[in-house]
Amino acid sequence: MLDLPTIPDLRRWTRGHRAAGRRVGLVPTMGYLHAGHLALVDEARRRADVVVMSIFVNPLQFGTGEDLGQYPRDLPRDRTLAEGKGVDALFVPSEVMMYPQGSEVRIAPGPAAARWEGAVRPGHFDGVLTVVAKLFNLVEPDVVCFGRKDIQQATLVRQMIRDLDWPIEIAVVRTVREPDGLALSSRNTYLESEERQSALGLSGALQLAHQAWRGGETGAAAIEAGMRRSLETFPALTVDYIAIADPGDLAPVARVDANTIVAIAGRLGRTRLIDNITLGDGLG
Ligand code: PAF
Repeated sequence: MLDLPTIPDLRRWTRGHRAAGRRVGLVPTMGYLHAGHLALVDEARRRADVVVMSIFVNPLQFGTGEDLGQYPRDLPRDRTLAEGKGVDALFVPSEVMMYPQGSEVRIAPGPAAARWEGAVRPGHFDGVLTVVAKLFNLVEPDVVCFGRKDIQQATLVRQMIRDLDWPIEIAVVRTVREPDGLALSSRNTYLESEERQSALGLSGALQLAHQAWRGGETGAAAIEAGMRRSLETFPALTVDYIAIADPGDLAPVARVDANTIVAIAGRLGRTRLIDNITLGDGLG
């Protein structure tokens, strides 16, 4: 695996491959890799000839009082995992490389960013789209892979690609879960063992929504009420939101179908976790 220490190195690498007719795949990450990230690499390798992974904990997407300072980092381990999965090149920019003159300009996402995570974390998606846009400009990828767990992020990136006419294919890759249903997340590392048990309330509530739908329930309010009842048995878990929404624009729906998204976010102590399903698929 090649290290691309500077932006000119990255540009030379990516342009060389594209000039040779090879499709370039990009897997943007903030590191502390887990099997969910590695599934993105697998998908990128299926869709592209060469794959570059970026690792950058992007300060623009963290609000005041959020976990930027504590965000888990382990570059040697990430490097081994990425290489083991067949990543061809690794780009790990410093903050000063990415924002040498500071950062005045932001990409403003559309209205779907105001919901869910955007309501709880104001400015978060401006920061996400800004760094993603920069990475698109630097890498000029043919294909990018994003995780389904961050469905709102993936939806907003898809909208940005469409609205700004980037000739980029986006793949949204299914959530990888622990055997008991917990969605993998770098932030799971913050959980104490009792919190880890309570975190199962999130995937449990989603599974319940799936079962209710399979049992014939099509009312969003009834499904949400069932989820909230099940969450009462997890008093340590503070629910930020439950959203039952259209997969295109993430707007709430009153009646659900197989394509409806059910998303949930909650806090356990200082740890914030998110998860979602498509109703027809369940936990997948
Ligand atoms: O999903 C993430 O890890 C980040 O939001 C991303 C897409 C790498 C942008 O910093």
